[in-house]
Parts: sequence; structure tokens; C-alpha cells
Amino acid sequence: MSSQKMWAGRTAGATSRMADDFNSSIHIDARMYREDIRGSMAHAAMLAEQGILTAEDADTIIEALEGILRDIDSGVLTIDPEAEDIHMFVEATLTERIGDAGKKLHTARSRNDQVAVDTRMYARERIKEIKEKIVELLEALLFVAEAHKTSILPGYTHLQRAQPVTFGHHLLAYAQMFMRDYDRLTDAAVRMNVSPLGACALAGTTYPISRAATAAALGFDGYAQNSMDAVSDRDFCVELLSACSLIMMHLSRLSEEIILWSSWEFAFVELDDAYTTGSSIMPQKKNSDMAELVRGKTGRVYGDLMGTLTMLKGLPLAYNKDMQEDKESLFDGIDTVLRCLEIMAPMVRTMKVKTDNMYAAAQRGFINATDLADYLTKRGVSFRTAYKLVGEIVSYCIREGYVLDTLPLEDYKTYSELFAPDLYEEISLEACVEKRISDGSTGFASVDAQIDTLKKYINDKKGLQK
Ligand code: ARG
Repeated sequence: MSSQKMWAGRTAGATSRMADDFNSSIHIDARMYREDIRGSMAHAAMLAEQGILTAEDADTIIEALEGILRDIDSGVLTIDPEAEDIHMFVEATLTERIGDAGKKLHTARSRNDQVAVDTRMYARERIKEIKEKIVELLEALLFVAEAHKTSILPGYTHLQRAQPVTFGHHLLAYAQMFMRDYDRLTDAAVRMNVSPLGACALAGTTYPISRAATAAALGFDGYAQNSMDAVSDRDFCVELLSACSLIMMHLSRLSEEIILWSSWEFAFVELDDAYTTGSSIMPQKKNSDMAELVRGKTGRVYGDLMGTLTMLKGLPLAYNKDMQEDKESLFDGIDTVLRCLEIMAPMVRTMKVKTDNMYAAAQRGFINATDLADYLTKRGVSFRTAYKLVGEIVSYCIREGYVLDTLPLEDYKTYSELFAPDLYEEISLEACVEKRISDGSTGFASVDAQIDTLKKYINDKKGLQK
């Protein structure tokens, strides 16, 4: 790094090597080179349009910027790891290549609005990628849910067997969560898509710039209305990281279930070998490492969110160097969520579902007790009385080694004369599911409706992506 800094106005002495290293963010923000160059091109074009730069200078600048972009893309030009940040690197390279004209680019601009515009442009592109990955996961969930829309397993509350549900219904619950996550990203992208460019250092500029022109050229829906807000807020990072945290939380819960289901104790699913590992010592092991890692990485993304919120909380307006820390967290959150979504989709799609084990588990846990109570209520008993009677029947069964389906009718009759032979049919697992007719329930009709909605949602989103 040259000791003569582009920003060395007031200072005469050189910064120490250690300070240069400490101050540098190039290892983090280098990845925004495309956004930085595009932003500069739009800025230069606008300066010429407004008569602030000559058309000739602007053309020279824009052409050279195109060359720099091409050269970085192709690997001809490597980003100097000694540079202070990507903005300085691009500007220095430009000046190296075209001399004095390059020095005019930074007219009516500051790194403060420059970094804000780059980060917004970068984040909005990555949001599109996250959304694509969510759709892939939704497709995987749909694939398994449709194949298992009638496969019965116990539904749990408190991790105790509660009521029978279908595996399709269970997976479609996650589909709902990921659809909301998708929509949340769409919302965040809309609020984010406002250009800070032209706010300059903090107060705006004396030049007759057109903020509308740069905003339009860079694909923004408008520009920030207060220059101090434009350069000092990072709520768009917080919002995106918070959306990423919610995605991770949902992925983590799904991972936790996959880990449980893959255990010998549940044995509801078996993951494909491609997404498991063995043990270096225990030959029988098949570990769900990928799901565990997704669960583990959730903490990282929460950390990225918390770090950003905390970094911002005490900052006076406007820009402070603390804010350079925003990108490390933001990029880590985005990268992590993308990798986790990416691995989850094929892992879900390829898992083997052991429907027999699910069904057997559903048969053993009195999960049709509510339906037995409903049997009595439909024959005139109040729900509370029925509830109490069934509770007594369940404890009798546990004492005597029965389940509700095997308890003889004469035993039932000692509790209520209303019990008749049809009770066995009515408390069968299939009947328990089939009779659930409320919208959104695990009943077969509701699951079909949910599958339809999900298919439409996926088609709609894929249409938008094209
Ligand atoms: N690398 C800096 C960042 O990421 C760019 C902005 C620097 N602005 C300044 N006034 N020092 O925040």
C-alpha cells in the first residue's frame, strides 16, 4: 500500500503499516467490485449529462471503467490485497490507466454514499439468489409431501405423541414457513431499493447533480430523501440479516426433526448416503452431519444480525468507520443461508421415508384418544365429561396392557353405554385423519388444497425469476 493516501489532505505523516492493515477492508469488500464500477459509470455519465464533466472526460472514464471490469472478471487484473478498500482500488487503477481524467470521477461524491450504494446493489442481487434457493427447497418439500400425502405418523406436542397427521401435512407446515420467508425477502428488497448516491459525505453537494438519473441508471426505484440518513443507516442490512435469521431458524427446526427422525429411536427416515457421514471408530454409524451443521450455523447468522445491530446502536450521525464492519456480517449471513438452503433441498428430496415405522409409532401412543372423546360428544356427552371418561379408559388400558383399538367392547361398556361396535372404525388412524375436515387441517382434502396452493406459488415465483 502506498504511504501517500488519496485522502491525505490534512495529514502529512504516513500511517503505520499496522494501522493500514487494521483500516483495510479490501479482503471483505473486494467482492463488490462490479457494483462499485457500475456505480461509478452511472455517476460519471450523470456528471457529463449535468455539464459537470465534459463528455470527453466522462467517455474516457467510462471506457476505462469498462476495461477494469473486464480485466477483473477475466483475471487479467488482480485486486490489490494491500489496497484500503474496493473504492480506492478502482479509483487508483482508473487514474493509473487514464491519468488526470480519472481524478475527476470523485467530483460530487464521497466514499460514504459510494459504499452505501454498492452494498445495496450487492445485497439486492444476492436476495434474488436466496429466493431461488428457497424455491428449490419448496420444490423438494412439495415432492416429498405429495408422495406422502396419505402416510400417517404421530403428530407431536411437547414431543409426546398427540394426534395422527400425515407426513405430507407435516412437511407442508415447513413450506408455509419458507413461503413467508420468501415474501419477507421480497419486502426487504423493495425497501432496500432506494439509492443513497448523491448524498455525498453527509450534506449533499453544491454541484447540480441529478440523483434521479443515477438512481434510474442503477435500477433503483427512487433515491433517499435525507442525505444524512442515506449515508448513515444500515437498516437494510439488519432487515436482510433478520430475514436470513428467520430462514435459518426454520431450517434449523427442520434439521432437528430430520436428525430425530433419522435416529434408531424414531427411524422415520433414512438420509441418502450423499448427505451423511460415518464415524471414524463406530462402524455402525450413519450421522446426519449436514443437518447438524445447518442447525449449528443458525447461531452464526443470529450472531451476524446481533453484531450489526450492536455495531449501529451507539453511532452518532452520520458515517462512522464502525460501519465498515457491516459487510463482514452481511456477507457471512448471506453466504451461510445460501449454502444451507442449497444442501437442504436435495437432502430432503432424496431421503427415504419409512412409512411402516411411522404408522407403527402412530398405533402405539393413544393418539386417537381425542377422537374417542369426540365419539362420545357426537352422541350427546359433553366434551369435558367425555374427556374425563377417555382419560380413565387410557389409564385402564396402560395398566392392563391394551391400546384403545384393542380394548374389548365389554370393557368400553363399563364406562359408557353409548359405546358400540362402530367405535373401532371411528378411532382407526385413517378415520382420525379423514374426519379432520376443517380448512388447514391434516385431513386429506386440506392437504390436497395445500399442495395445490404450493404448486401455484412455486410456478408463480419461477415465472417471475425468468
Ligand atoms: N471501506 C469503507 C466502508 O466500508 C468505505 C467508506 C469509507 N468512508 C470514510 N469516510 N472513511 O465503510
